[in-house]
Amino acid sequence: MDGDAWNDMSSEYDNCVENNPHHVISNFIEEEITIIANLCKKIIKPDKKYTIIDMGSGTGRVLFSLKKRLDDSVSFYGIDASEPMIQLSKQKQSKLNLKNISFLHHDVTDPKIDEFFDDSTKIPMCVYNTIGVIPHQKRQQFFDNMLRLAGQDGFTLISAFNGDDFAFAAPQIYNPMKSMVKRIDEDSFDEQKLAFRNSLGYYSQWFTKNQIKDLLKSTADPIPIQVPINNKAQILGHVFVDRVL
Ligand SMILES: C[S@@+](CC[C@H](N)C(=O)[O-])C[C@H]1O[C@@H](n2cnc3c(N)ncnc32)[C@H](O)[C@@H]1O
Repeated sequence: MDGDAWNDMSSEYDNCVENNPHHVISNFIEEEITIIANLCKKIIKPDKKYTIIDMGSGTGRVLFSLKKRLDDSVSFYGIDASEPMIQLSKQKQSKLNLKNISFLHHDVTDPKIDEFFDDSTKIPMCVYNTIGVIPHQKRQQFFDNMLRLAGQDGFTLISAFNGDDFAFAAPQIYNPMKSMVKRIDEDSFDEQKLAFRNSLGYYSQWFTKNQIKDLLKSTADPIPIQVPINNKAQILGHVFVDRVL
């Protein structure tokens, strides 16, 4: 998927994610951010400097929520390859009047990405299945970047859709986001390849739990993101960390 596709989707992004009235999406993102904030709270200590880096930050929703939930001393960076996404993030930041958040227009697979940051302890994260839109051939570099940034004292976090239950979970997630992905074709849900794709070029890879644990080289159990559907809790995603916290 090329970068321009996200430029085209940026104007619909908040309607389809942060402000989506559909109960599946609103419950998913609330549950996801609660799990992420609780994991951060587990390691953030007031006497140390921390930087949270959101890799593929979209319109900034994850950072704005975390800023409100975490200690004031934490710094935040959002990095995104789409200039319109970055512009929307900056507009929202100024309306919300939130300090200590910087947005950078940059490719998160750049091996020299460390140059943007100081020597604080880093918590790089990649949320809402953004790993699924990083091209396959750059995926290893992306994971290397995240793990290197986290070093010994931070940790790396991935939130991804549930590839172990793709056939059920994918329609639950993409149907309510149709105005952003713009088209859902008969063959959009590719169970063989574990991917959602459409004839306009949108492509998002899904992963099994074991695939992500392997990429993170992690033994920690992922935390399920559960959403009630027809009165039953369904696991639509997981939050993974690269170490036991
Ligand atoms: C599914 S959106 C997720 C946005 C955000 N993480 C969230 O949870 O709302 C994926 C974002 O990743 C960005 N992206 C895709 N490939 C990227 C890359 N190589 N470098 C930086 N950003 C990228 C896109 O521009 C888009 O804003």
